[in-house]
Amino acid sequence: MTELVFTPDGNPRAFRDALGRFATGVTVITADTAEGPMGFTANSFAGVSLDPALVLWSLANASSRYRHFATAGHYAIHVLDQTHVDWLARFNRGGSGFDGLNHEVNPEGVPVVHGALARFDCAQQATHDGGDHLIIVGRVLRASYRNGAPLVFSQGVYGGFVAGV
Ligand SMILES: Cc1cc2nc3c(=O)[nH]c(=O)nc-3n(C[C@H](O)[C@H](O)[C@H](O)COP(=O)(O)O)c2cc1C
Repeated sequence: MTELVFTPDGNPRAFRDALGRFATGVTVITADTAEGPMGFTANSFAGVSLDPALVLWSLANASSRYRHFATAGHYAIHVLDQTHVDWLARFNRGGSGFDGLNHEVNPEGVPVVHGALARFDCAQQATHDGGDHLIIVGRVLRASYRNGAPLVFSQGVYGGFVAGV
């Protein structure tokens, strides 16, 4: 049964719950900032364009790290697999960030973590007003990937992907 409970002047929780029915992967986006290497957990990542290669993610205006990621000229988007659950806490609010984490620096100076399921090294292409988020469009300078089981996020919980319907 379909339950329609959200209207713009109605229950905002219902809007979030409806969005949660759309399963996504999970990413950690990293940048070199005035306060050192920083990472941000985000599931708003999406591919935008193949030629040119463009991707996007959206950044909450209310984030305490907004200024760092809104202005980053370069950043790297790490797609997580099911072994990366610890990355979520590390790069979520109040997490330990890069403390004690082995990382390298890409040619643009962005801190990158080895072992992501896929990684997109980006230069900022554009930003757009997205209501209470900023839509950040990145031009992909290089992308890499490996085989593995993607981490999936839906309805507030993490899980895995099962092939075949
Ligand atoms: C699975 C998951 C996905 C998230 N996706 C986003 C996102 O796409 N954009 C965003 O701004 N915040 C997202 N967040 C929240 C941020 O990671 C962060 O917790 C939030 O911005 C508040 O922390 P801050 O004020 O320290 O930035 C997500 C959190 C989790 C756990």
